[in-house]
Amino acid sequence: MAARSSFLIVANRLPVDRSVQPDGTASWRRSPGGLVTAIAPVMQRRHGAWLGWHGAPDEELGPFEQDGMNLIPVPLSEQEVQLYYEGFSNATLWPLYHDVVAPPVFERHMWDTYRKVNERFADAAAEAADEGAVVWVQDYQLQLVPAMLRKRRPDLRIGFFLHIPFPPVELFWRLPWRTELVEGLLGADLVGFQRPGGASNFIRLCRRLLGLSYKGNEVYTGDGRSVTAQAFPISVDFSELDNLVREPHIVQRAKEIRSDLGDPEHVLLGVDRLDYTKGIGQRLEAFGELLAEGRLNASEAVFIQIATPSRERVEEYRRLRDDIELQVGRINGEHSMLGHQPIQYFHQSYDREELAALYLAADVMVVTPLRDGMNLVAKEYVACHNDLRGALVLSEFAGAADELRQSYLVNPYDVEGLKRTMLAAMRATPHEVARRMRTMRRRVSTYDVDRWASEFLTALES
Ligand code: ADP
Ligand code: G6P
Repeated sequence: MAARSSFLIVANRLPVDRSVQPDGTASWRRSPGGLVTAIAPVMQRRHGAWLGWHGAPDEELGPFEQDGMNLIPVPLSEQEVQLYYEGFSNATLWPLYHDVVAPPVFERHMWDTYRKVNERFADAAAEAADEGAVVWVQDYQLQLVPAMLRKRRPDLRIGFFLHIPFPPVELFWRLPWRTELVEGLLGADLVGFQRPGGASNFIRLCRRLLGLSYKGNEVYTGDGRSVTAQAFPISVDFSELDNLVREPHIVQRAKEIRSDLGDPEHVLLGVDRLDYTKGIGQRLEAFGELLAEGRLNASEAVFIQIATPSRERVEEYRRLRDDIELQVGRINGEHSMLGHQPIQYFHQSYDREELAALYLAADVMVVTPLRDGMNLVAKEYVACHNDLRGALVLSEFAGAADELRQSYLVNPYDVEGLKRTMLAAMRATPHEVARRMRTMRRRVSTYDVDRWASEFLTALES
Protein backbone atom coordinates (compact mmCIF):
# COMPACT_ATOMS: atom_id res chain seq x y z
CA MET A 1 0.00 0.00 0.00
CA ALA A 2 1.22 3.54 -0.78
CA ALA A 3 2.03 5.95 2.08
CA ARG A 4 -0.93 8.09 3.17
CA SER A 5 -1.05 11.60 1.74
CA SER A 6 -1.81 14.95 3.30
CA PHE A 7 -3.02 16.27 -0.08
CA LEU A 8 -5.23 14.16 -2.30
CA ILE A 9 -6.89 14.77 -5.65
CA VAL A 10 -9.87 12.51 -6.37
CA ALA A 11 -11.04 12.56 -10.00
CA ASN A 12 -12.77 10.09 -12.30
CA ARG A 13 -9.65 9.90 -14.43
CA LEU A 14 -5.97 9.75 -13.68
CA PRO A 15 -3.88 12.19 -15.77
CA VAL A 16 -2.71 9.24 -17.85
CA ASP A 17 -4.84 6.82 -19.76
CA ARG A 18 -3.94 3.20 -20.35
CA SER A 19 -5.02 1.97 -23.73
CA VAL A 20 -4.82 -1.72 -24.50
CA GLN A 21 -4.64 -2.69 -28.17
CA PRO A 22 -6.47 -5.74 -29.55
CA ASP A 23 -3.10 -7.57 -29.69
CA GLY A 24 -2.71 -7.03 -25.93
CA THR A 25 0.01 -4.34 -26.03
CA ALA A 26 -0.63 -1.50 -23.61
CA SER A 27 0.56 2.10 -23.56
CA TRP A 28 0.08 5.24 -21.43
CA ARG A 29 -1.15 8.48 -22.94
CA ARG A 30 -2.15 11.81 -21.45
CA SER A 31 -5.89 11.73 -20.64
CA PRO A 32 -8.14 14.04 -22.66
CA GLY A 33 -9.91 17.17 -21.50
CA GLY A 34 -9.60 20.34 -19.52
CA LEU A 35 -9.65 18.79 -16.04
CA VAL A 36 -6.36 16.99 -16.57
CA THR A 37 -4.79 20.00 -18.35
CA ALA A 38 -5.56 22.16 -15.33
CA ILE A 39 -4.85 19.83 -12.41
CA ALA A 40 -1.67 18.11 -13.69
CA PRO A 41 0.59 21.18 -13.33
CA VAL A 42 -0.89 21.91 -9.88
CA MET A 43 -0.14 18.36 -8.76
CA GLN A 44 3.37 18.41 -10.14
CA ARG A 45 4.12 21.39 -7.89
CA ARG A 46 2.55 19.99 -4.70
CA HIS A 47 3.40 16.71 -3.08
CA GLY A 48 0.34 14.58 -2.91
CA ALA A 49 -1.48 11.76 -4.58
CA TRP A 50 -4.05 11.52 -7.38
CA LEU A 51 -6.72 8.90 -7.18
CA GLY A 52 -8.67 7.96 -10.31
CA TRP A 53 -9.55 5.46 -12.99
CA HIS A 54 -6.73 4.57 -15.38
CA GLY A 55 -8.93 4.30 -18.45
CA ALA A 56 -8.98 0.53 -19.09
CA PRO A 57 -11.86 -1.66 -17.86
CA ASP A 58 -11.53 -4.84 -15.80
CA GLU A 59 -7.95 -4.22 -14.77
CA GLU A 60 -6.56 -3.86 -11.23
CA LEU A 61 -3.31 -1.90 -10.94
CA GLY A 62 -1.24 -0.93 -7.91
CA PRO A 63 -0.15 2.66 -7.16
CA PHE A 64 2.63 4.01 -9.41
CA GLU A 65 4.56 7.18 -10.11
CA GLN A 66 4.47 9.15 -13.33
CA ASP A 67 5.84 12.63 -14.19
CA GLY A 68 6.50 13.33 -10.52
CA MET A 69 2.95 12.45 -9.44
CA ASN A 70 1.82 9.62 -7.15
CA LEU A 71 -1.07 7.91 -8.88
CA ILE A 72 -3.52 5.52 -7.25
CA PRO A 73 -5.70 3.64 -9.76
CA VAL A 74 -9.35 2.91 -8.95
CA PRO A 75 -10.63 -0.02 -11.05
CA LEU A 76 -13.88 -0.03 -13.04
CA SER A 77 -15.47 -3.11 -14.54
CA GLU A 78 -16.70 -3.10 -18.15
CA GLN A 79 -20.27 -2.85 -16.88
CA GLU A 80 -19.41 0.06 -14.58
CA VAL A 81 -17.79 1.88 -17.48
CA GLN A 82 -21.06 1.49 -19.36
CA LEU A 83 -23.43 2.43 -16.57
CA TYR A 84 -21.48 4.86 -14.37
CA TYR A 85 -19.14 6.57 -16.88
CA GLU A 86 -20.83 6.38 -20.28
CA GLY A 87 -24.28 6.16 -18.70
CA PHE A 88 -25.05 8.32 -15.69
CA SER A 89 -22.04 10.64 -16.03
CA ASN A 90 -22.07 11.20 -19.76
CA ALA A 91 -25.59 10.38 -20.95
CA THR A 92 -27.48 11.83 -17.95
CA LEU A 93 -25.48 14.51 -16.13
CA TRP A 94 -23.35 15.86 -18.99
CA PRO A 95 -26.26 16.84 -21.28
CA LEU A 96 -28.48 17.98 -18.40
CA TYR A 97 -25.80 20.28 -16.97
CA HIS A 98 -25.04 21.66 -20.46
CA ASP A 99 -28.44 23.26 -21.01
CA VAL A 100 -29.96 20.00 -22.34
CA VAL A 101 -28.31 20.52 -25.75
CA ALA A 102 -28.87 16.75 -26.12
CA PRO A 103 -31.68 14.83 -24.37
CA PRO A 104 -30.54 13.33 -21.06
CA VAL A 105 -31.23 9.67 -20.33
CA PHE A 106 -32.81 8.82 -16.96
CA GLU A 107 -32.25 5.18 -16.02
CA ARG A 108 -32.35 3.71 -12.55
CA HIS A 109 -29.66 1.08 -13.05
CA MET A 110 -27.26 3.80 -14.25
CA TRP A 111 -27.93 5.74 -11.06
CA ASP A 112 -27.42 2.62 -8.91
CA THR A 113 -24.02 2.03 -10.49
CA TYR A 114 -23.08 5.73 -10.16
CA ARG A 115 -23.74 5.47 -6.42
CA LYS A 116 -21.81 2.23 -6.12
CA VAL A 117 -18.77 3.59 -7.95
CA ASN A 118 -18.86 6.80 -5.90
CA GLU A 119 -18.74 4.58 -2.77
CA ARG A 120 -15.63 2.91 -4.16
CA PHE A 121 -13.90 6.25 -4.72
CA ALA A 122 -14.88 7.35 -1.20
CA ASP A 123 -13.45 4.13 0.26
CA ALA A 124 -10.20 4.53 -1.66
CA ALA A 125 -9.89 8.20 -0.64
CA ALA A 126 -10.59 7.35 3.03
CA GLU A 127 -7.80 4.79 2.84
CA ALA A 128 -5.26 7.06 1.11
CA ALA A 129 -5.76 10.25 3.13
CA ASP A 130 -3.61 11.02 6.15
CA GLU A 131 -5.13 12.33 9.41
CA GLY A 132 -6.53 15.85 8.79
CA ALA A 133 -5.59 15.72 5.08
CA VAL A 134 -6.97 18.03 2.41
CA VAL A 135 -8.97 16.06 -0.14
CA TRP A 136 -10.02 17.79 -3.35
CA VAL A 137 -12.77 15.96 -5.24
CA GLN A 138 -13.25 16.85 -8.91
CA ASP A 139 -16.21 17.10 -11.23
CA TYR A 140 -19.66 15.74 -12.01
CA GLN A 141 -18.72 12.05 -12.05
CA LEU A 142 -18.09 12.13 -8.27
CA GLN A 143 -20.75 14.36 -6.75
CA LEU A 144 -21.68 11.86 -4.02
CA VAL A 145 -18.10 11.42 -2.82
CA PRO A 146 -17.92 14.48 -0.50
CA ALA A 147 -20.76 13.26 1.78
CA MET A 148 -19.66 9.61 1.59
CA LEU A 149 -16.12 10.57 2.53
CA ARG A 150 -17.18 12.86 5.36
CA LYS A 151 -19.13 9.97 6.86
CA ARG A 152 -16.05 7.78 6.79
CA ARG A 153 -13.51 10.43 7.72
CA PRO A 154 -14.91 13.48 9.56
CA ASP A 155 -11.33 14.64 10.26
CA LEU A 156 -10.68 15.57 6.60
CA ARG A 157 -10.92 18.96 4.94
CA ILE A 158 -12.98 18.26 1.81
CA GLY A 159 -13.21 20.48 -1.26
CA PHE A 160 -15.18 19.88 -4.44
CA PHE A 161 -14.80 21.61 -7.80
CA LEU A 162 -17.28 21.31 -10.65
CA HIS A 163 -15.53 21.79 -14.01
CA ILE A 164 -18.76 21.96 -16.00
CA PRO A 165 -21.68 24.41 -15.67
CA PHE A 166 -24.09 23.99 -12.77
CA PRO A 167 -27.56 24.26 -14.31
CA PRO A 168 -30.48 26.49 -13.37
CA VAL A 169 -32.86 25.08 -10.73
CA GLU A 170 -35.55 24.39 -13.35
CA LEU A 171 -33.28 21.97 -15.23
CA PHE A 172 -31.74 20.31 -12.20
CA TRP A 173 -35.24 19.72 -10.83
CA ARG A 174 -35.86 17.07 -13.53
CA LEU A 175 -33.36 14.68 -11.96
CA PRO A 176 -35.11 11.88 -10.10
CA TRP A 177 -32.06 11.77 -7.78
CA ARG A 178 -31.77 15.53 -7.26
CA THR A 179 -31.89 15.38 -3.46
CA GLU A 180 -29.14 12.75 -3.17
CA LEU A 181 -26.86 14.70 -5.50
CA VAL A 182 -27.21 17.96 -3.60
CA GLU A 183 -26.73 16.19 -0.29
CA GLY A 184 -23.62 14.53 -1.74
CA LEU A 185 -22.08 17.90 -2.59
CA LEU A 186 -22.98 19.33 0.81
CA GLY A 187 -20.52 16.88 2.35
CA ALA A 188 -17.75 19.24 1.21
CA ASP A 189 -16.55 22.28 3.18
CA LEU A 190 -16.14 24.26 -0.02
CA VAL A 191 -17.95 23.69 -3.34
CA GLY A 192 -16.32 25.53 -6.25
CA PHE A 193 -17.92 26.49 -9.56
CA GLN A 194 -16.58 28.06 -12.75
CA ARG A 195 -18.96 31.04 -12.69
CA PRO A 196 -20.84 33.01 -10.01
CA GLY A 197 -24.11 31.93 -11.69
CA GLY A 198 -23.31 28.26 -10.94
CA ALA A 199 -22.74 29.03 -7.26
CA SER A 200 -26.00 30.96 -6.98
CA ASN A 201 -27.93 28.20 -8.81
CA PHE A 202 -26.59 25.76 -6.24
CA ILE A 203 -27.47 27.95 -3.27
CA ARG A 204 -30.97 28.51 -4.60
CA LEU A 205 -31.37 24.76 -5.01
CA CYS A 206 -30.28 24.09 -1.42
CA ARG A 207 -32.99 26.45 -0.26
CA ARG A 208 -35.78 25.22 -2.57
CA LEU A 209 -35.01 21.52 -2.43
CA LEU A 210 -33.81 21.05 1.14
CA GLY A 211 -35.21 24.17 2.82
CA LEU A 212 -31.74 25.17 4.02
CA SER A 213 -30.96 28.70 5.08
CA TYR A 214 -27.98 30.67 3.78
CA LYS A 215 -26.17 33.94 4.17
CA GLY A 216 -24.12 35.30 1.28
CA ASN A 217 -22.34 32.25 -0.11
CA GLU A 218 -22.59 30.14 3.08
CA VAL A 219 -25.22 27.41 3.22
CA TYR A 220 -26.17 26.11 6.70
CA THR A 221 -26.64 22.37 6.59
CA GLY A 222 -28.77 22.14 9.73
CA ASP A 223 -26.32 19.89 11.63
CA GLY A 224 -24.08 22.71 12.77
CA ARG A 225 -21.92 22.80 9.65
CA SER A 226 -21.77 25.38 6.90
CA VAL A 227 -20.71 24.91 3.29
CA THR A 228 -19.30 27.67 1.11
CA ALA A 229 -20.38 27.81 -2.54
CA GLN A 230 -18.15 30.09 -4.59
CA ALA A 231 -16.87 30.70 -8.12
CA PHE A 232 -13.21 30.03 -8.99
CA PRO A 233 -12.72 30.37 -12.76
CA ILE A 234 -10.18 27.78 -13.82
CA SER A 235 -7.20 28.67 -15.99
CA VAL A 236 -4.15 27.36 -17.82
CA ASP A 237 -0.42 27.08 -17.13
CA PHE A 238 0.34 30.39 -18.84
CA SER A 239 4.11 30.37 -18.44
CA GLU A 240 4.48 26.79 -19.71
CA LEU A 241 2.78 27.72 -23.00
CA ASP A 242 4.34 31.17 -23.18
CA ASN A 243 7.81 29.61 -22.87
CA LEU A 244 6.99 26.82 -25.29
CA VAL A 245 6.03 29.13 -28.15
CA ARG A 246 9.29 31.06 -27.72
CA GLU A 247 11.27 27.90 -28.57
CA PRO A 248 12.74 28.20 -32.08
CA HIS A 249 11.56 24.71 -33.09
CA ILE A 250 7.93 25.60 -32.28
CA VAL A 251 8.16 28.88 -34.20
CA GLN A 252 9.65 26.92 -37.11
CA ARG A 253 6.93 24.29 -36.90
CA ALA A 254 4.22 26.99 -37.00
CA LYS A 255 5.78 28.38 -40.20
CA GLU A 256 5.91 24.90 -41.67
CA ILE A 257 2.21 24.35 -40.91
CA ARG A 258 1.31 27.52 -42.78
CA SER A 259 3.48 26.68 -45.73
CA ASP A 260 2.12 23.11 -45.88
CA LEU A 261 -1.31 24.71 -46.19
CA GLY A 262 -0.08 26.80 -49.14
CA ASP A 263 0.43 30.00 -47.11
CA PRO A 264 -3.19 31.13 -47.23
CA GLU A 265 -4.14 34.62 -46.14
CA HIS A 266 -6.31 33.36 -43.26
CA VAL A 267 -5.74 30.27 -41.14
CA LEU A 268 -8.72 29.55 -38.89
CA LEU A 269 -8.52 26.91 -36.17
CA GLY A 270 -10.88 24.87 -33.99
CA VAL A 271 -9.56 22.49 -31.29
CA ASP A 272 -12.08 20.47 -29.30
CA ARG A 273 -13.00 17.08 -27.98
CA LEU A 274 -15.55 15.82 -30.49
CA ASP A 275 -18.48 16.79 -28.27
CA TYR A 276 -21.95 18.06 -29.16
CA THR A 277 -21.60 20.91 -26.66
CA LYS A 278 -18.72 22.45 -28.63
CA GLY A 279 -20.71 23.93 -31.52
CA ILE A 280 -18.40 22.44 -34.17
CA GLY A 281 -21.25 22.01 -36.66
CA GLN A 282 -22.35 25.63 -36.24
CA ARG A 283 -18.91 27.05 -36.95
CA LEU A 284 -18.39 24.82 -40.00
CA GLU A 285 -21.81 25.78 -41.31
CA ALA A 286 -20.89 29.46 -40.99
CA PHE A 287 -17.56 28.89 -42.76
CA GLY A 288 -19.25 26.87 -45.53
CA GLU A 289 -21.84 29.59 -46.12
CA LEU A 290 -19.17 32.29 -46.33
CA LEU A 291 -17.55 30.25 -49.11
CA ALA A 292 -20.85 29.49 -50.86
CA GLU A 293 -21.89 33.15 -50.83
CA GLY A 294 -18.51 34.24 -52.20
CA ARG A 295 -17.84 36.45 -49.16
CA LEU A 296 -14.73 34.38 -48.62
CA ASN A 297 -12.65 32.89 -51.38
CA ALA A 298 -11.71 29.22 -50.95
CA SER A 299 -8.15 29.99 -52.05
CA GLU A 300 -7.61 32.60 -49.33
CA ALA A 301 -8.72 30.68 -46.23
CA VAL A 302 -8.19 27.32 -44.55
CA PHE A 303 -10.14 26.07 -41.56
CA ILE A 304 -8.23 23.48 -39.48
CA GLN A 305 -10.58 21.52 -37.25
CA ILE A 306 -8.95 19.22 -34.73
CA ALA A 307 -11.50 16.98 -33.05
CA THR A 308 -10.14 14.68 -30.36
CA PRO A 309 -11.98 11.35 -30.18
CA SER A 310 -14.18 11.33 -27.08
CA ARG A 311 -16.72 8.99 -25.39
CA GLU A 312 -17.02 7.09 -28.62
CA ARG A 313 -19.44 4.42 -27.42
CA VAL A 314 -22.08 6.93 -26.28
CA GLU A 315 -24.84 7.14 -28.90
CA GLU A 316 -24.97 10.96 -29.17
CA TYR A 317 -21.21 11.11 -29.76
CA ARG A 318 -21.37 8.49 -32.48
CA ARG A 319 -24.09 10.41 -34.25
CA LEU A 320 -22.16 13.66 -33.90
CA ARG A 321 -19.08 12.15 -35.52
CA ASP A 322 -21.12 11.00 -38.51
CA ASP A 323 -22.80 14.41 -38.82
CA ILE A 324 -19.54 16.37 -38.66
CA GLU A 325 -17.73 14.11 -41.09
CA LEU A 326 -20.61 14.34 -43.54
CA GLN A 327 -20.63 18.11 -43.23
CA VAL A 328 -16.86 18.38 -43.77
CA GLY A 329 -17.11 16.12 -46.82
CA ARG A 330 -19.94 18.17 -48.26
CA ILE A 331 -18.23 21.56 -47.83
CA ASN A 332 -14.90 20.27 -49.13
CA GLY A 333 -16.67 18.56 -52.02
CA GLU A 334 -18.19 21.84 -53.08
CA HIS A 335 -15.22 24.15 -52.58
CA SER A 336 -11.98 22.18 -52.95
CA MET A 337 -9.53 22.79 -55.75
CA LEU A 338 -6.79 20.45 -56.86
CA GLY A 339 -4.25 20.42 -54.03
CA HIS A 340 -6.35 22.62 -51.74
CA GLN A 341 -9.13 21.73 -49.33
CA PRO A 342 -10.74 24.59 -47.38
CA ILE A 343 -11.44 22.41 -44.31
CA GLN A 344 -8.61 20.32 -42.91
CA TYR A 345 -10.26 17.91 -40.48
CA PHE A 346 -8.34 15.68 -38.05
CA HIS A 347 -10.01 13.16 -35.75
CA GLN A 348 -6.84 12.84 -33.69
CA SER A 349 -5.09 13.83 -30.51
CA TYR A 350 -1.88 15.88 -30.55
CA ASP A 351 0.95 16.44 -28.11
CA ARG A 352 1.35 19.82 -26.41
CA GLU A 353 4.14 20.96 -28.74
CA GLU A 354 2.20 20.35 -31.94
CA LEU A 355 -0.87 21.97 -30.39
CA ALA A 356 1.16 25.04 -29.40
CA ALA A 357 2.52 25.29 -32.98
CA LEU A 358 -1.02 25.08 -34.35
CA TYR A 359 -2.22 27.85 -32.01
CA LEU A 360 0.74 29.96 -33.06
CA ALA A 361 0.06 29.35 -36.74
CA ALA A 362 -3.62 30.34 -36.56
CA ASP A 363 -4.81 33.86 -37.37
CA VAL A 364 -8.28 33.22 -36.01
CA MET A 365 -9.21 30.78 -33.27
CA VAL A 366 -12.86 29.78 -33.42
CA VAL A 367 -14.30 28.63 -30.07
CA THR A 368 -18.07 28.34 -30.32
CA PRO A 369 -19.52 26.04 -27.62
CA LEU A 370 -23.27 26.03 -27.11
CA ARG A 371 -22.43 25.76 -23.41
CA ASP A 372 -19.07 25.23 -21.71
CA GLY A 373 -17.93 25.40 -18.07
CA MET A 374 -14.82 27.40 -18.98
CA ASN A 375 -13.10 26.31 -22.23
CA LEU A 376 -9.37 26.13 -21.73
CA VAL A 377 -8.64 26.08 -25.46
CA ALA A 378 -9.56 29.79 -25.62
CA LYS A 379 -7.10 30.59 -22.82
CA GLU A 380 -4.38 28.38 -24.32
CA TYR A 381 -4.64 30.29 -27.60
CA VAL A 382 -4.17 33.58 -25.75
CA ALA A 383 -1.19 32.18 -23.80
CA CYS A 384 0.46 31.17 -27.09
CA HIS A 385 0.37 34.65 -28.67
CA ASN A 386 3.18 36.67 -27.21
CA ASP A 387 3.52 37.97 -30.79
CA LEU A 388 0.16 39.74 -30.21
CA ARG A 389 -1.11 38.25 -33.45
CA GLY A 390 -4.27 36.19 -33.50
CA ALA A 391 -7.96 36.97 -33.04
CA LEU A 392 -10.19 34.91 -30.78
CA VAL A 393 -13.81 34.31 -31.77
CA LEU A 394 -15.50 33.17 -28.56
CA SER A 395 -18.98 31.98 -27.66
CA GLU A 396 -20.91 34.00 -25.10
CA PHE A 397 -21.89 30.62 -23.61
CA ALA A 398 -18.36 29.65 -22.54
CA GLY A 399 -17.26 30.47 -18.99
CA ALA A 400 -14.15 32.07 -20.53
CA ALA A 401 -16.35 34.84 -22.00
CA ASP A 402 -16.58 36.42 -18.50
CA GLU A 403 -12.85 37.10 -18.52
CA LEU A 404 -11.97 37.40 -22.22
CA ARG A 405 -14.17 40.39 -22.97
CA GLN A 406 -11.80 41.58 -25.72
CA SER A 407 -12.39 38.49 -27.81
CA TYR A 408 -14.84 38.60 -30.71
CA LEU A 409 -17.86 37.49 -28.71
CA VAL A 410 -20.57 35.64 -30.57
CA ASN A 411 -23.83 33.77 -30.13
CA PRO A 412 -23.14 30.36 -31.77
CA TYR A 413 -26.84 29.76 -32.42
CA ASP A 414 -26.86 32.81 -34.72
CA VAL A 415 -25.22 31.62 -37.94
CA GLU A 416 -25.41 35.08 -39.57
CA GLY A 417 -23.79 36.59 -36.50
CA LEU A 418 -21.10 33.91 -36.58
CA LYS A 419 -20.35 34.66 -40.23
CA ARG A 420 -20.11 38.41 -39.59
CA THR A 421 -17.91 37.89 -36.54
CA MET A 422 -15.56 35.44 -38.25
CA LEU A 423 -15.15 37.88 -41.13
CA ALA A 424 -14.56 40.79 -38.74
CA ALA A 425 -11.87 38.76 -36.94
CA MET A 426 -10.20 37.87 -40.26
CA ARG A 427 -10.25 41.46 -41.50
CA ALA A 428 -9.26 43.27 -38.31
CA THR A 429 -6.15 45.45 -38.54
CA PRO A 430 -2.97 44.16 -36.84
CA HIS A 431 -3.23 47.12 -34.47
CA GLU A 432 -6.76 46.15 -33.39
CA VAL A 433 -5.82 42.48 -33.03
CA ALA A 434 -2.80 43.37 -30.87
CA ARG A 435 -4.83 45.71 -28.67
CA ARG A 436 -7.32 42.97 -27.88
CA MET A 437 -4.70 40.26 -27.44
CA ARG A 438 -2.63 42.39 -25.06
CA THR A 439 -5.57 42.87 -22.68
CA MET A 440 -6.55 39.19 -22.80
CA ARG A 441 -2.97 38.12 -22.10
CA ARG A 442 -2.82 40.38 -19.08
CA ARG A 443 -5.85 38.58 -17.66
CA VAL A 444 -4.70 35.01 -18.40
CA SER A 445 -1.12 35.61 -17.21
CA THR A 446 -2.22 37.06 -13.86
CA TYR A 447 -5.04 34.60 -13.29
CA ASP A 448 -3.29 31.38 -14.26
CA VAL A 449 -3.93 27.85 -13.05
CA ASP A 450 -1.67 28.21 -10.00
CA ARG A 451 -3.59 31.24 -8.86
CA TRP A 452 -6.84 29.32 -9.37
CA ALA A 453 -5.63 26.38 -7.28
CA SER A 454 -4.12 28.49 -4.54
CA GLU A 455 -7.25 30.62 -4.20
CA PHE A 456 -9.39 27.50 -3.95
CA LEU A 457 -7.08 25.77 -1.46
CA THR A 458 -6.62 28.90 0.66
CA ALA A 459 -10.39 29.25 0.89
CA LEU A 460 -10.69 25.55 1.73
CA GLU A 461 -8.06 25.62 4.43
CA SER A 462 -9.16 28.86 6.07
P1 ADP B 1 -13.04 20.02 -22.30
O1 ADP B 1 -12.53 20.00 -20.91
O2 ADP B 1 -14.53 20.02 -22.41
O3 ADP B 1 -12.43 18.99 -23.18
P2 ADP B 1 -11.43 22.45 -22.59
O4 ADP B 1 -11.31 23.38 -23.73
O5 ADP B 1 -11.62 23.12 -21.27
O6 ADP B 1 -12.61 21.43 -22.94
O7 ADP B 1 -10.13 21.56 -22.46
C1 ADP B 1 -9.69 20.76 -23.51
C2 ADP B 1 -8.23 20.40 -23.27
O8 ADP B 1 -7.90 19.31 -24.12
C3 ADP B 1 -7.30 21.54 -23.62
O9 ADP B 1 -6.22 21.55 -22.72
C4 ADP B 1 -6.83 21.18 -25.03
O10 ADP B 1 -5.53 21.63 -25.32
C5 ADP B 1 -6.85 19.67 -25.00
N1 ADP B 1 -7.14 19.15 -26.34
C6 ADP B 1 -8.24 19.38 -27.06
N2 ADP B 1 -8.15 18.78 -28.28
C7 ADP B 1 -6.95 18.18 -28.31
C8 ADP B 1 -6.24 17.39 -29.28
N3 ADP B 1 -6.76 17.10 -30.48
N4 ADP B 1 -5.03 16.94 -28.96
C9 ADP B 1 -4.50 17.21 -27.77
N5 ADP B 1 -5.10 17.94 -26.81
C10 ADP B 1 -6.31 18.42 -27.07
C1 G6P C 1 -14.29 17.53 -19.39
C2 G6P C 1 -14.77 17.06 -18.03
C3 G6P C 1 -13.72 16.16 -17.40
C4 G6P C 1 -13.37 15.03 -18.34
C5 G6P C 1 -12.94 15.58 -19.70
C6 G6P C 1 -12.63 14.49 -20.71
O1 G6P C 1 -13.17 18.30 -19.20
O2 G6P C 1 -15.03 18.19 -17.21
O3 G6P C 1 -14.20 15.63 -16.18
O4 G6P C 1 -12.35 14.24 -17.81
O5 G6P C 1 -13.97 16.42 -20.21
O6 G6P C 1 -13.70 13.61 -20.82
P1 G6P C 1 -13.56 12.05 -20.51
O7 G6P C 1 -14.96 11.56 -20.50
O8 G6P C 1 -12.73 11.52 -21.64
O9 G6P C 1 -12.87 11.91 -19.19
